[in-house]
Amino acid sequence: MSEKDLYVGLISGTSRDGVDAVLVRFTENHPDLLARRCQPYRGELADKLEHFARAGQRPLEEDLQPLDSEVARQFADTALQLIDEAGIESGAVGAVGSHGQTIWHAPDDPEPESLQLGRPALIAELTGIPTVGDFRRADIEAGGQGAPLAPLLHRALFRPVRGKRIVLNLGGIANISVIDAGGEVRGFDTGPANCLLDAWIRDQRGMPFDRDGAWAATGRVDPELLRDLLADRWFGKAPPKSTGVEYFNLAWLRRHLANRRASPADIQATLAELTAVSVADAVRHCEAADLLLCGGGSHNGYLRNRLASLLPRLRVGSTADFGLEPDWVEAVLFAWLARERLAGRPQDTRAITGAREPVLLGSIAYPPGVEYLP
Ligand SMILES: Nc1ncnc2c1ncn2[C@@H]1O[C@H](COP(=O)(O)OP(=O)(O)O)[C@@H](O)[C@H]1O
Ligand SMILES: [Mg+2]
Repeated sequence: MSEKDLYVGLISGTSRDGVDAVLVRFTENHPDLLARRCQPYRGELADKLEHFARAGQRPLEEDLQPLDSEVARQFADTALQLIDEAGIESGAVGAVGSHGQTIWHAPDDPEPESLQLGRPALIAELTGIPTVGDFRRADIEAGGQGAPLAPLLHRALFRPVRGKRIVLNLGGIANISVIDAGGEVRGFDTGPANCLLDAWIRDQRGMPFDRDGAWAATGRVDPELLRDLLADRWFGKAPPKSTGVEYFNLAWLRRHLANRRASPADIQATLAELTAVSVADAVRHCEAADLLLCGGGSHNGYLRNRLASLLPRLRVGSTADFGLEPDWVEAVLFAWLARERLAGRPQDTRAITGAREPVLLGSIAYPPGVEYLP
């Protein structure tokens, strides 16, 4: 095993709760986590990102440029701290895989695009490590949604010995992978997970998130409101499909709340139910034996219980049962995708994003002075 089997994976998801970073050593497809850290955005940068996320329209190029560099610096700092903590030389790292921060995801627009901040070239320059980024572009150019990409890693790590297995990532948005023993994987976004729960508790109580779903647990699901939310045409769309906070946000929720008398806690319970029901509807006919949770929402006991009771035939576990802590799956995905990109392996996303053909995901940025050896 060469030292260059070391990779760094970086992502900040739609929750914008911080930059997740992992240092991974791969043995074939098996990832050993050597170090991990989550670095929240500095106050001012968090506010700027929040501003664009709330605007509900595509940010202008000239507004994005300075932010692009600021995010890249934060990503590079996080990678360097991680490498330092692990006590290794940055020269031993084969590549950084950086997803960046999504600031706009509009795969169904006439000019489809998915925009991530955090220029890979600047990360390469600041870390001195080749950096793979811009993972969604080629997929969108091949007619795909550009998301979700997690099913590719889920297939590599969590393929069942027999039957089918579901992996459910509860990030800001929820996405599922349905993997069978033959290695086939289907996947798509099922809708909002933490993004509305976070937005509502922040708006009503000034808290960043509903720990363990404790507030939702004090409320009662409002069946009419739930029906109304589920009637949104996004839920009825057939896969491939993906979404983001430019669609499912406080403004979306408020449009549905007009003239309703549900208490704030009832609304929180209804939002958790919206996630549980939209996931259950998506997986009900899969005939899988188990469902593995990952992402921050896997710590929400209330949501976990709702899922388990809507899907009584499924054993609900966590990716930790198979050796990977649920908080680090997405960051490992980008370390793994960087390694795949360096190896020149195209990814078959046809049954996930709807791309027309397998695509090479990501572009490689080399640090200045590093010679490119093909
Ligand atoms: N203990 C917890 N209880 C409930 N929700 C949690 C808990 N820990 C994390 N979360 C939720 O998970 C979110 C972060 O999840 P994450 O997987 O990082 O999403 P993203 O990929 O969108 O950044 C937080 O915003 C929060 O809503
Ligand atoms: Mg996150």
